[in-house]
Amino acid sequence: MSITKTKKKVFIETLGCQMNVADTERMLGLLDEIDYVQTEDRMEADLSILNTCSIREHAVDKMRSYMGKWDKTRKPGSMIALAGCVPQQEGTKLATDVRTADIVIGTHNLHRLPDLVLEAEAKHQINLLNGIEPAIKNKGVYASRPQVAEIWEELPEDIPETPIFRKTKYYAWVNVIYGCNYRCTYCIVPKTRGDQRSRSTTDIVSEVQALAAEGFKEIILLGQNVDGYGLDIGTNLAALLREVHKVDGIERIKFLTSHPCDMTYELIETVAELPKVSKYFHVPIQAGNDEVLKRMARRYTVARYMELVNYIRKLMPEASITGDIIVGFPGETHEQFMDSVKVVQEVGYDACNTAIYSKRPFTPAAEWEDNITHAEKQERIRLLNAICTEVAEKQALRYVGKVEKVLVEGKSVRNPDRLTGRIFNNKTVNIECDPALHDKYIGTFADVRITRTNPWALRGEFV
Ligand code: SAH
Ligand code: SF4
Ligand code: F3S
Repeated sequence: MSITKTKKKVFIETLGCQMNVADTERMLGLLDEIDYVQTEDRMEADLSILNTCSIREHAVDKMRSYMGKWDKTRKPGSMIALAGCVPQQEGTKLATDVRTADIVIGTHNLHRLPDLVLEAEAKHQINLLNGIEPAIKNKGVYASRPQVAEIWEELPEDIPETPIFRKTKYYAWVNVIYGCNYRCTYCIVPKTRGDQRSRSTTDIVSEVQALAAEGFKEIILLGQNVDGYGLDIGTNLAALLREVHKVDGIERIKFLTSHPCDMTYELIETVAELPKVSKYFHVPIQAGNDEVLKRMARRYTVARYMELVNYIRKLMPEASITGDIIVGFPGETHEQFMDSVKVVQEVGYDACNTAIYSKRPFTPAAEWEDNITHAEKQERIRLLNAICTEVAEKQALRYVGKVEKVLVEGKSVRNPDRLTGRIFNNKTVNIECDPALHDKYIGTFADVRITRTNPWALRGEFV
């Protein structure tokens, strides 16, 4: 039976970080080449993809619960694919395990997706012809569901450039470095994303030029350790920023996530110098105590981190710094935890993501005794969150009365009379605006006077 040429529909649910968001755009680009268009309605999808994250515990359970739900409520004859960090972590054994999936693919070989989908389609058609699917569904047994699975242990030497279907219109995520060479003792990412590999500056610049030509105004350079960019190919992030900065049409450049170990004074100076680069640093500290940092294998001290922060503040007093902190790492004492609280106050984060330590397979810390009770961890994170909110609210006050450049993205979901956009540090701003003027502003950088703040967003008006 031949495969029909009409457009098929794909639904993708994206969990996890910006890497997965970027991978989803790549999957949509790849699938476009075999005639799939995106749908937001899973019930009409011919193919549903779950792009999984495994940064925290129960990632596999969560994935199974999605699979169960999706399988019970899918369009008859449609296919389900599992992608992202959970399959990469679990390896091919997952394929034989999760029988509700038609396709299982890892993060290292995403470019193979169209081939796998075509192969699965063919198998599926045969199955449908033989009337197998209704039979399996009725019995709730999936043992004979045809599966196509491919998980590569290693990242390929040359990661192929793939088409990308952008879901955003005015700003774009650009992967500049894949994987991570650090081995923080709690972290699954090196397992799910492999070793660090930088893209060539030429490739990145051509991508940015193409984006500028399409009308994109803002670029966010992306990497698990973006400050490590270029170290494997004889360049660095500061040099890349200079190149991207030359691209006409791009008005704002951001980069994330920074690692204190690879953040250099040269980088900070470059950010200070280049007007289009946001004075914004997302630089997770993870813990405010040297002993804990050592056991996390973070390879810096709190003093070194504060040196970087102070240098940023010295060159760019208006800079925005955000971070991540893990609470209840194995062996963390109450005093050591209180050092994390202190650090939040000292740095003055505009925002800080906090998480209770979660045991991950294949990581050294998973072997260590976790001697802190659940109640104690809850208590710590409650306190830390309260401090983070307090500090963030205080920091946000400094924007009130100021005029900030806002990339206006569209109407606010909550109140369509308002417009919404972001300032240089990704903080959302909601702007009161006469609906008749909306089209004039959407997709442009506009000067907005900040009038109010709340813990989640700013409020403003056009000047
Ligand atoms: N590359 C970045 C962060 C990657 S993961 C860095 O080095 O900082 C994103 C965040 O998830 C981390 O900053 C950390 O705070 C959190 N995280 C990672 N592993 C975790 C774990 N096992 N338990 C709890 N939080 C974790
Ligand atoms: Fe994970 Fe550490 Fe690499 Fe960040 S630097 S991705 S926390 S191993
Ligand atoms: Fe999650 Fe994978 Fe990102 S584990 S945080 S989606 S790299």
